[in-house]
Amino acid sequence: MTDTTQGVKQDADQNTTHFGFQTVATEDKVGMVANVFHNVAAKYDIMNDVMSMGIHRIWKRFTIDCSGVRPGHRVLDLAGGTGDLTAKFSRIVGDKGQVVLADINNSMLNVGRDKLRDLGIIGNVNYVQANAEELPFPDDYFDCITIGFGLRNVTDKDKALRSMYRVLKPGGRLLVLEFSKPVVEPLSKVYDAYSFHLLPKMGELIANDAESYRYLAESIRMHPDQETLKGMMEEAGFEQAKYFNLTGGIVALHRGYKF
Ligand SMILES: C[S@@+](CC[C@H](N)C(=O)[O-])C[C@H]1O[C@@H](n2cnc3c(N)ncnc32)[C@H](O)[C@@H]1O
Repeated sequence: MTDTTQGVKQDADQNTTHFGFQTVATEDKVGMVANVFHNVAAKYDIMNDVMSMGIHRIWKRFTIDCSGVRPGHRVLDLAGGTGDLTAKFSRIVGDKGQVVLADINNSMLNVGRDKLRDLGIIGNVNYVQANAEELPFPDDYFDCITIGFGLRNVTDKDKALRSMYRVLKPGGRLLVLEFSKPVVEPLSKVYDAYSFHLLPKMGELIANDAESYRYLAESIRMHPDQETLKGMMEEAGFEQAKYFNLTGGIVALHRGYKF
């Protein structure tokens, strides 16, 4: 299999995949990703604010604005972690709607559940531990699915996209918010210096964990670029797929529909 990621061509057979810049056995990746998120869960929110200088809130706001979610809708916040998107959707869908915060990692889910309960968000949110590749929901179930900064960590992204397609209702939309490829060359250079030098240092200082933040920087570089991901969504069945570059393409929001 040839995997094209941000201009990096990497040959991998079916038994291997990448974990950041390392080539690892496919079956090992899920455990390695789990370790990263067990390690960062407690400091995840503060690191997000520090690393992005608060800008992740604007990216998430834009995601909500593009979601078309209304009162009464059923929403899946997949790889939802500490629940930022869930909190916003919960307020929009109201008493007659439902938000499912699903994540493979119980440490992240626990932090999310505690945070949302502290915010008084109780009635319309369910917490489900699930792998994006094999979603435990009926066909045609959700009006909207978001996956924020999650797809990059999934071992078989095509399988996950097909699984999302299956559980989305006809007329529903998928939103993939993810780090992507900067579209301006000078920004790219500054961003590289920031990601590979400053980010692990911040991780060390704030979360006592440089390694996890090195993985973060590497996994971003290995993630499919804007056009590749759009093609993958189309391949999984999504229609009218398009993307919006945010902060010069450092992040992109991909949107696709199931009809
Ligand atoms: C960077 S966090 C994003 C959390 C949240 N969506 C946000 O934007 O703040 C990535 C999340 O993806 C989850 N994740 C990784 N692989 C997954 C998989 N195969 N299925 C479901 N969730 C997964 C991790 O456990 C982690 O909580």
